Amino acid sequence: MTSYARITGTGSYLPPRRLTNNDLAAELAQRGIETSDEWIVERTGIRARHFAAPDVGSSDLALEASRQAIEAAGITAQDIDLIIVATSTPDMVFPSTAAILQNKLGITNGCPVFDVQAVCSGFVYALTVADAMIRAGTARRALVVGAEVFSRILNFNDRTTCVLFGDGAGAVVLEASEEPGILASDLHADGSHVGILCVPGHVSGGEILGSPLLTMDGQAVFKLAVGVLDKAARATLDKAGLTEADIDWLIPHQANIRIMQSTARKLKLSMDKVVVTVDQHGNTSAASIPLALDHAVRNGQVKKGQHVLLEGVGGGFTWGAVLLKM
Ligand code: UT7
Repeated sequence: MTSYARITGTGSYLPPRRLTNNDLAAELAQRGIETSDEWIVERTGIRARHFAAPDVGSSDLALEASRQAIEAAGITAQDIDLIIVATSTPDMVFPSTAAILQNKLGITNGCPVFDVQAVCSGFVYALTVADAMIRAGTARRALVVGAEVFSRILNFNDRTTCVLFGDGAGAVVLEASEEPGILASDLHADGSHVGILCVPGHVSGGEILGSPLLTMDGQAVFKLAVGVLDKAARATLDKAGLTEADIDWLIPHQANIRIMQSTARKLKLSMDKVVVTVDQHGNTSAASIPLALDHAVRNGQVKKGQHVLLEGVGGGFTWGAVLLKM
């Protein structure tokens, strides 16, 4: 048994193809779909996103992010004894992207691997599961990854969704520690809202039944998100015996700057304490939080010893928060 699970290394990866809003608007115009940089920036805060090449899968993005996280932790891939990948865009129906990643990393120690499917809340779910497994003594060095290729499931004839998402991956190494690391978490779901954000298609009898493309009622998701995120933050702080004033950094799911501003306002946090990458990455679903965390670590914003609150929200409807000491 161990007291804590602590993040000892972070990594991230964005595929090289970057599209600004103007680039995307020009591509959509060829399909007769009208949008503009002005609309996208004003409604979402997004200025650019990255799209993976057609032959690049979530496991490829996860591999690059994982290599960085493993190097930052000062360990080797063989030291990893648990892999959890949060993704809604797995390489295959099965096996898991985590199994594919284990093989690509050359890990031959037989460690357990599995995917977590909680859409944009996937990383906070995966981190909470890994934390529990480490504290229970089931693992000592977990690799926890969020990796997505949402470009594959976008409907480029639907301007209300296709301008919002991007591809990428983020990873952390989470190790058993006597020093404080993850302090508390708070996870939720309400399955009565399945239909407001989904990819309804499924494989059956050798065919795809239903649409394999993302559909979203943006306003419904927006309203639910701003209604739950500050409550999850407070519940997590309560469990750790801390208050809003103790938060050094808020790293929310990067979907829309207006949702982040609303949460920050409710928590009485200045936007200076909020890590924002949505402008450059768009919404990368389960990858958005570990991507933002890695950027904040590498650019010197997030430092060792600081309290960081991670918050996820998305399809399911799912939401949750993780409070940790770096
Ligand atoms: O990661 C999971 C979590 N997901 C989210 O957090 C997404 C939450 N929702 C949102 O971020 C926002 O609801 C959106 C960004 C999706 C939409 O913003 P909105 O302020 O709710 O806009 P709206 O849907 O009310 O649309 C306003 C107008 C409409 O035109 P009319 O009916 O007023 O004439 C839309 O047709 O904007 C139009 N519109 C666009 N115009 C230009 C919708 N998409 C576009 C577009 N370009 N891409």
